[in-house]
Amino acid sequence: MRPCSLVLMVAVVAVAHGDRYHDRRPAPAAAPSSRAIPPSEEERAASYWYAEAFDAIEARLSPPAYDSVARNVVMFLGDGLSVPTLAPARTLKGQRQGRSGEEEQLAYERFPVTGLAKTYCVDKQIPDSACTATAYLCGVKNNYGTLGVTARVPRYDCDASTDRATHLESIAAWALADGRSAGIVTTTRITHASPAGAYANSADRGWESDADLRAAAVDPAACPDIADQLVNSHPGNQFQASQSVILGGGRRAFRPTTVLDEEYSPGRRLDGRDLIEEWRGQRAAAGVAHAYVWNRTELLRAVEDPPEYLLGLFEANHMQYAAEARAAGNDEPTLAEMTEAAIRVLSRNPRGFFLFVEGGRIDHAHHDNLPHLALDETLALSDAVERADALLPPASSLLVLTADHSHVMAFNGYSRRGTDILGPSDDIGDDGVPYMTLSYTNGPGYRSQQGVGRVDVTQDSDFMSIAWMTHAEVPLASETHGGDDVAVFARGPQQQLFTGLYEQSQLPHLMAHAACLGPAAALRAECSRPSPRRSPSPSRSPSQPRRPTPPRRLRAPPPRFCWQRRFSGSCRCPPQNHMRILVYTRQ
Ligand SMILES: *[C@@H]1O[C@H](CO)[C@@H](O)[C@H](O)[C@H]1NC(C)=O
Ligand SMILES: [Zn+2]
Repeated sequence: MRPCSLVLMVAVVAVAHGDRYHDRRPAPAAAPSSRAIPPSEEERAASYWYAEAFDAIEARLSPPAYDSVARNVVMFLGDGLSVPTLAPARTLKGQRQGRSGEEEQLAYERFPVTGLAKTYCVDKQIPDSACTATAYLCGVKNNYGTLGVTARVPRYDCDASTDRATHLESIAAWALADGRSAGIVTTTRITHASPAGAYANSADRGWESDADLRAAAVDPAACPDIADQLVNSHPGNQFQASQSVILGGGRRAFRPTTVLDEEYSPGRRLDGRDLIEEWRGQRAAAGVAHAYVWNRTELLRAVEDPPEYLLGLFEANHMQYAAEARAAGNDEPTLAEMTEAAIRVLSRNPRGFFLFVEGGRIDHAHHDNLPHLALDETLALSDAVERADALLPPASSLLVLTADHSHVMAFNGYSRRGTDILGPSDDIGDDGVPYMTLSYTNGPGYRSQQGVGRVDVTQDSDFMSIAWMTHAEVPLASETHGGDDVAVFARGPQQQLFTGLYEQSQLPHLMAHAACLGPAAALRAECSRPSPRRSPSPSRSPSQPRRPTPPRRLRAPPPRFCWQRRFSGSCRCPPQNHMRILVYTRQ
């Protein structure tokens, strides 16, 4: 076909439909009717939008002069908090309060500065949480699946990672080296990729306990597991140099198989060591105030009179989804409560601190095509930001929120304002079958079409229950990450550094520059002036240096996730019960 006849054909179709691209019929009677909450009446006046814009201009013209050196830095990470997750999350929050919702603002959305970060890693177009954690905590891009080592280390290559020249330091280590305190808070296992980026050097993110290493035929003496590094290596053990906080899930990598933990789950260590007892023993020997807690009641009690060192591990595996914990009414702290506890302990250090706070399970919900849970976890993260914002004034404390990578959830259709964000679109497919406002390009929510066309998911018996999977285009046991950029929100000293579109690996350098930490402090004159508050720096030598060990042969590890076994048929995941699948995929 000649190009001009193509143009002609397009024009004819466009005439027939009005606007070929945007013309949509009024929703047919067959379209499922979602609840819709209308917007407020004042939005119909131009003056409403003028006033909104004028307020914004005034706020931008007279920014507070936050040009001091940041004493404290809190980095919030929404694991998998893609840009398309932001608008649905704020809409859900507004709708839960009985409003149309789209106009709502989450805590980090009020930050004055935003930017965009590029998330690819050295060997992959679309990254995972390990190479991105290395980028946003150590300031260097590296290989998919590797943590705290340069891209000279291929994934699973223990030998290559024994070369200390490949090891990277995180902004947490830079803070500790400056005599500040450090903390990590997460809703995942504390040994999971994102938090481990703050303290581990590992050729594989999966080497969380010595059992994982042995399963991969790697010698734990050559390449210590991630839990061991947290307790016994730099900078994890330096989380004892001054106040430190470690809060999250994942007791199992710290306890031996022979021990049942506080909630009757067995540990996973094969070397017989109990790293929680080692952590306590080190601090008891040093004679410093410390507390280990495993439930919310004890956490809140511990911070009434904050100890210098706080370790809280609230689950054997990941912590529960916020919605699960609320429904079960059990004794797990919220992310906001953990954040406040961490700030109360770390604030004992007058020199300041670096705190990493991760909402780690937005990612898990997306992988299972569960938008309701992904949005709910995002709101829990926003609550944590709100708590920190109230406790830490912008003149002294830099708050930054970002994501490690995107996901493939789409927010689509032409629904009326205020339509239930979790419901079906007002629109309907050209095949006459409804579709959801939130769906995915891939994942376990794929429904087999069996020659009868697209499945009408609104007929599912558990339609729109919290554990109901929305639909996906391509079948995959776990939905994939996305390769698009992620948002960065910042407020506090040097907030203007965070504007623009840049490599994700710039983030720790930007934060460190604002706080006079790490290598980027050399670029700022104020950082070399002695601070009157400077107290003697604590000892920085690792208490147990790593032993040099002979190199070991390496085999690729067996699949660790149940979903991989599900493909080979050896995993008994009940196909109809999504909540049960959740439990399995959390392994
Ligand atoms: C919380 O932990 C403390 C200390 O181990 C324990 O005594 C208490 O029973 C726990 N509370 C709950 C609700 O499990
Ligand atoms: Zn993920």
